[in-house]
Amino acid sequence: MKRYNKIFSTYHMVYRLANSSEDQRTFALGIGRVFKNSLAADKIVIVFKHAGSYPLLKVKFDGKTQTVKSGGKSILTIREREIFASEREITQGKRMMSPFNFGETLGGVYLRRKTEFLEWEQRWFLSLCETMSLGVKLLAMRRDEKRLMVNYVKSLTRMLHQFVPTSYLHTSGVIKLVKEMGKEMRLTEKEINALEYASLLHDAGKTEVPTELLNKKATLTQDEYDVLRKHPNAGADMLKNMEMLKPALPIIRHHHERYDGKGYPSGLKKQQIPLGARILAIIDAFDAMYFGRPYKGKISLDMIKNEFKKQSGKQFDGKVVEVFLKVIDKADIKKHLRSCL
Ligand SMILES: [Fe+2]
Repeated sequence: MKRYNKIFSTYHMVYRLANSSEDQRTFALGIGRVFKNSLAADKIVIVFKHAGSYPLLKVKFDGKTQTVKSGGKSILTIREREIFASEREITQGKRMMSPFNFGETLGGVYLRRKTEFLEWEQRWFLSLCETMSLGVKLLAMRRDEKRLMVNYVKSLTRMLHQFVPTSYLHTSGVIKLVKEMGKEMRLTEKEINALEYASLLHDAGKTEVPTELLNKKATLTQDEYDVLRKHPNAGADMLKNMEMLKPALPIIRHHHERYDGKGYPSGLKKQQIPLGARILAIIDAFDAMYFGRPYKGKISLDMIKNEFKKQSGKQFDGKVVEVFLKVIDKADIKKHLRSCL
């Protein structure tokens, strides 16, 4: 009974890993540990084909050490090349091998142990590899979907730049700032991605605002201002059915909130405002000041810093301002921003 519980929980773990792993490397390390713990193997080699920009990814567990390599066939030893080239299952004595097959060969795993594998271990190994094949396929599909969505977001952004002049963020300059801020604020990869998509699409709702209003140089009337203030909600509503953009929606919806609660659309204040939106509010303001807008000139970096210090704790979150000022003072960021002018 104990053994069946172990088998069941192992399958569950593989399923969880396939659904939560961000990339093949994380998945390979996860299933490597599953093999190590469940079959007490001394040496495990996992190979995945088509690993991002490389043809192969190899994860090796040897005793207590683990190594990850990506590249061409040269990352495999001669022995490993022989084993993986056969693409046949081996369940003999002290070693076992199985390809990950799902319509095509997606990779394979090789295990070695000092003592012979028992008959039930061999059966378990093969059925575990079938589950893992499904996991590898699932991961590849998620990667393709992600690539498709990134391209879609990029073309949506280009379209937006053409039709909505004031939605313009200086993409390459801003993306670098987003990534750097994400790192400094210790955001997860998922949170950084969400912030990146939100910074590209935050003003998508302006497509519903008349162009003459967007281009108006004179001060807006209250009615006109009311129309403009609808764009964060309009943008979030417009993109709400796109699964991949879901984490970006609260950032888009609240990018005009102010830390002191005087912003829009919801008048949220302090920590009520999603952290991503507090960061984007600063990056958006920086972009407008540093690169200028059709209706406003550029401002020097020193003046921008003073402006942020003045608005710290009022328009912007003081803690995020502090991190941002540190980021724009970094030599490589300064250099990059200058190159974008
Ligand atoms: Fe906006």
